[in-house]
Amino acid sequence: PTIIAVVPAAGIGSRMQADRPKQYLLINGKTILEHTLQALHSHPAIAHVVVAISPEDPFFAELPVASASWLTRIAGGQERADSVLRAVATLPADCWALVHDAARPCLSHADIDKLVGVCTQQEVAGGILATPVRDTMKRARPGASQSPEIAHTECRENLWHALTPQLFRADQLTQALAQGLAQGLPITDEASAMEAAGYCVALVDGNPANIKITRPADMPLAQFYLSALQE
Ligand code: C5P
Repeated sequence: PTIIAVVPAAGIGSRMQADRPKQYLLINGKTILEHTLQALHSHPAIAHVVVAISPEDPFFAELPVASASWLTRIAGGQERADSVLRAVATLPADCWALVHDAARPCLSHADIDKLVGVCTQQEVAGGILATPVRDTMKRARPGASQSPEIAHTECRENLWHALTPQLFRADQLTQALAQGLAQGLPITDEASAMEAAGYCVALVDGNPANIKITRPADMPLAQFYLSALQE
């Protein structure tokens, strides 16, 4: 099947306290976004890459990759799910959309292979990379964010962290996202829209090195994982 990568990169990344969206911070002289796009484009199964960028973003056009023939830029939306919907709606109905966060540059080809293998060979609508929860999980009492208190302990058995990429048929994902957004559901990843639409989604045990860069301390960690990938 044809696989097209979709990269939501229209966020503003306010938690990084930087002067630019986090995907434009540099690791080894290249932006995080360029590392991410390269990790996808260099995989032989990925035919094309679509990136969602904010219309007000002045940084993307300056990147050498902006004019690459394997890359299409579309305008992002209000939330991550809006950005992804705009991108997947432009894809041929029968292709697969491999949606991957701009802020996850440490993606290995082995993990893409594993995800594609499960999604195309098993009786599922699609799948996501994920890692099993290892810490004990606490639910805080609602409200008081200054001095939070524990309401109860969540059972961590069968609990997973959802990563990206997330791989689904473009037509099914487009419909599920549109439906979920119209219903006002909290859609923080593609799988949540697919689950709400009643589809069966596989969890594919991924490499924990595939971190989402969120805080300043994640930068040296990502640099370490990137060099480990290149070895
Ligand atoms: O904020 P968070 O880290 O959850 O964002 C996940 C991804 O979604 C980021 O790559 C960000 O650029 C993207 N995003 C987007 N459009 C928005 C908000 C976030 O493409 N409106």
